[in-house]
Amino acid sequence: MTQVKNDLLLRTLRGERTERTPVWMMRQAGRYLPDYLKLKEKYSFFERCQNPDLASEITIQPVEQVGVDAAIIFSDILVVPQAMGMEVQMIENKGPLLPDPIKQFSDLDKLVVPDVHESLGYVFDALKLTKQRLEGRVPLIGFAGAPWTLLCYMVQGKGSKTFDEAKAFCYTQPETAHRLLQQITDTTIAYLQGQAAAGADVVQIFDSWGGLLGPEDFENLSMRYIRQIVAAMKNKALTIIFAKGAWHSLDSMAATGAHGLGIDWCIRPGMARQLAGPQCALQGNFDPAKLLSPIPVIRKEVKSMLDAFSGYPHIANLGHGILPNVPVDHARAFVETVKNYQYEPA
Ligand code: CP3
Repeated sequence: MTQVKNDLLLRTLRGERTERTPVWMMRQAGRYLPDYLKLKEKYSFFERCQNPDLASEITIQPVEQVGVDAAIIFSDILVVPQAMGMEVQMIENKGPLLPDPIKQFSDLDKLVVPDVHESLGYVFDALKLTKQRLEGRVPLIGFAGAPWTLLCYMVQGKGSKTFDEAKAFCYTQPETAHRLLQQITDTTIAYLQGQAAAGADVVQIFDSWGGLLGPEDFENLSMRYIRQIVAAMKNKALTIIFAKGAWHSLDSMAATGAHGLGIDWCIRPGMARQLAGPQCALQGNFDPAKLLSPIPVIRKEVKSMLDAFSGYPHIANLGHGILPNVPVDHARAFVETVKNYQYEPA
């Protein structure tokens, strides 16, 4: 296997001190990059995901064009419900639509825990091809949605601000909900283990809707399952948990043994560090909308973010995905400022 030359991200996740902070951006592949938007005119969303050659090209674009220290495979969290037997459509300017959502116990009959090598083999092929094409320039990140966030889409059937139908399902039919969460978890474990075998150095679990749950529900409906996934990845890949808005549970996330924890911009780095403890790397937490500020403002704000995280392992990132309307120059300014930063104690 090729040795990774720029292994700043890997060393930071192992808790080592590095010469500078590694940087990448959630959702960095696609959306705001002109070369991606050109491909978008020719191929549908799932064609882009399922064709390893296209997926790998899109994955490498931000490495070459923006200079990030890691590549994240181009795919989507919703390929898992798709592999479990649900229809998933991606509607332009509207987002995902699952026309036949799970509403009751008997609907679980429609689902399978698939052989991931059959149904998601295209993701493994894309990872293998990307690993070759990267030639060890930077590490490769794989990912999956957390079981709770996938349940949100599988039950609600579409995006939502509150995911009220998904929550009502869990609160009124808890046994069915837990059975579904366990089926998603079993699929996700096989899927992420397959990603590691295909060359992913790191895997990130995206719990984008973790923050919709209070601390006890988060433990019951999300953490329990994330814990199983992190345990199953031990010695297979480095792991990052990103549970947006669920800062109250950083201590239990750290206790899973995950190597990194993502945080959003609504928590101060010092407080996140207190909750997470000294060991694991914290990842974040620039407000993605701040990339719409003038470049000098971006530079100044990135430096104060880096100051606030200094002293402990940190991966510079946004607090959620990059917005589609961010100018590429602004994304570059974010990355360059991290790369040029020197900590100067006051
Ligand atoms: O760096 C990357 O962009 C890697 C690829 C990636 C995509 N989706 C591609 C995508 C990743 C890591 C995701 C994760 C994802 N998908 C999440 C978790 C992260 C987050 O943002 O909270 C979620 C909740 C989804 C579900 C999803 N997929 C939504 C809500 C949407 C529509 C709105 C949007 O984000 O654009 C998608 C579509 C999607 N997934 C696009 C891309 C590039 C845009 C559609 C397109 O380009 O045609």
